[in-house]
Amino acid sequence: MGDDMRMRIGLVVAVVCMLSSCAAEAPTGPPFRTDTTVRMLMANMVDPAADLVWDAVGTVVDYDGENHWEPETEEEWLSVRYGAMSIIEAGNLLMMDSRAIDQEQWISLTEGMMDAGMLAFQAAESEDADLLFALGEDVYNSCNNCHMLYWIDDEDRGRVVGPPSGGSAP
Ligand code: HEC
Repeated sequence: MGDDMRMRIGLVVAVVCMLSSCAAEAPTGPPFRTDTTVRMLMANMVDPAADLVWDAVGTVVDYDGENHWEPETEEEWLSVRYGAMSIIEAGNLLMMDSRAIDQEQWISLTEGMMDAGMLAFQAAESEDADLLFALGEDVYNSCNNCHMLYWIDDEDRGRVVGPPSGGSAP
């Protein structure tokens, strides 16, 4: 191998190293903290957030007649937007490496929840109580779709066998 050839190989190695950053070191990034489990996120963030959306509008008909409520003050609408925004952003937390159970269905079901949350957020932004009420069902379905597959060992609300990937519960 002539010097010329050797130099060219050296150059190629250098370029490949630049492209792949040639490092075995761990990828750097913000020091995300993911000690909080999926269950804790559900119980303390996702569920209370959904309640802010679901409880905001309703109608009850009983012997006293019809009782309807919907957000009226700016503060009440803010609480709906807060709930919807929390649902959207909680999706990002659920997709983080240590929480995502797989990279296919878990991700798309999470995106389904984020989409439903975004629609609810937009309805709250335009202060459309009827639309918000209707979208409550979409939010509910987006939760349920995931629970049917991944909420293990809960006979009433989830399934009792292992997750689709054959992995273990979060
Ligand atoms: C991408 C999947 C996924 C989505 C979407 C999802 N959940 Fe969950 N949820 C889970 C899993 C998995 C568990 C079981 C966690 C465990 O017990 O370890 C769970 C558990 C729960 C629990 C029980 C927490 C406890 O204390 O045991 C509640 C309440 C809950 N979810 C509410 C919701 C609501 C409300 C939504 C929609 C706004 C939602 N979840 C959307 C996956 C999901």
